Amino acid sequence: MITVIGLGFVGLTTGLGFAKKGFKTFGIDINRERVDLLKNFEIPFHEPHLKNILEETSGTKFFLDVSLDDAIKQSEAIFICVGTPASSDGSADLSHLLAAIDQIIAVDSGSFKVLIVKSTVPPSTLSKRVIPYVEEKISGLDRAFGFASNPEFLREGYCWEDFIEPDRLVIGVEDEKSRQILQQLYEPFGAPIHNVSYNSAEFIKYLSNTLLSTLISYSNEMSMIADNIGGIDVPSSFRILHEDKRWSGKPASMSSYVYPGCGYGGYCLPKDTQALDAIARANGIDTSVLSGNLRINDEIKDHLVGKIESELEKDAPIGILGLSFKPESDDVRITPAKDIIVKLIEKGFTNLSAYDPLANEAFKTEYPDIDIKYFEDLDSLLQNVENVVILTGWKEFKNNKEKITKKKVFDFRYIY
Ligand SMILES: NC(=O)c1ccc[n+]([C@@H]2O[C@H](COP(=O)([O-])OP(=O)(O)OC[C@H]3O[C@@H](n4cnc5c(N)ncnc54)[C@H](O)[C@@H]3O)[C@@H](O)[C@H]2O)c1
Repeated sequence: MITVIGLGFVGLTTGLGFAKKGFKTFGIDINRERVDLLKNFEIPFHEPHLKNILEETSGTKFFLDVSLDDAIKQSEAIFICVGTPASSDGSADLSHLLAAIDQIIAVDSGSFKVLIVKSTVPPSTLSKRVIPYVEEKISGLDRAFGFASNPEFLREGYCWEDFIEPDRLVIGVEDEKSRQILQQLYEPFGAPIHNVSYNSAEFIKYLSNTLLSTLISYSNEMSMIADNIGGIDVPSSFRILHEDKRWSGKPASMSSYVYPGCGYGGYCLPKDTQALDAIARANGIDTSVLSGNLRINDEIKDHLVGKIESELEKDAPIGILGLSFKPESDDVRITPAKDIIVKLIEKGFTNLSAYDPLANEAFKTEYPDIDIKYFEDLDSLLQNVENVVILTGWKEFKNNKEKITKKKVFDFRYIY
């Protein structure tokens, strides 16, 4: 049995969704007016389908007239779906969440329950705030809780479709009993279930929302640059942009651009990003997204070099895997590998060698002052080093994971 606390867009949909799948579900909200409306089969906000499902499941699978006490006592899974608005300093206001937890803890029930945070909360909230809070409050009481973070990805206007047919289910869970309960609840949805750490689950939700907000701000910054330069048809430019095959994943997918690595390079992206930033400034727009984008392309390299520095001695033998700016190319113009190698040398690393399936010669020619050893094949490099730094995501490196991972690996393209 399930209790859902907070019957807004997320909670009501969640409650009705599990009821529709056959689970006995109790819906709880502190807002009496809201509950009274729902009891009369009125949805308090505009959201298609929910009224029909409420009528269909009410009294058989979905129950609104049960007290919080009875609901909690009977439930093994408690979904918390209360609001998490912004505080005045911008941080997430957890007061509703902690108040709901107080109410749950106050119920005298010794049987095991999983507290599932479905509200959106920043990474580390469960591990650093919620769990210590609960553990402190229940010490000395007869209570047994497991925990899970289960972010929701539904969109308003499509709440029902998104919940009942999810693309993927993300469950941050770190104990077996809770994992099994969530597995049982979500199996009927037929979507891939990703069991991850609490922090990862919370992070994945923000990864999604901040990407969307960044894309919107990017588009708006572009529209301001276009307006200031003049003579640009903004909407049709964007519609033509959308015709790029990469959006539909054929042949290469846009997702390869939404993936971390060691920075972009090559002949086009660096210079074109710089040039648009420059002309924007010349036309009176002080860019934020573009200039931030350029700044991050530098900062990522320092960040990654810092990781090597914190783990290796300066004379450690290091093999660089990959010199070209991307796989399937021998182009080494403005390749991130060049900046990273130069930074390592500047930091005092003395024992660097490199291997690239195609770009050894091009790199030697383009950067004759960079004094490192080159190897003609992967095996020879691996025989000579204890540490490898992957800077290009070549297939050869992916296919030789077993060999390569016998060494200490700094996988800066996240190929494994
Ligand atoms: N709205 C969305 O599209 C969406 C999508 C994904 C995730 N989320 C996240 O889900 C969470 C809920 O969002 P929402 O849009 O459903 O919020 P909402 O404001 O529509 O609903 C929250 C409900 O919780 C109730 N509530 C607050 N404290 C309570 C308590 N102690 N006990 C019982 N009920 C209580 C409120 O009365 C309200 O009805 C937020 O963290 C939000 O960021 C929202």
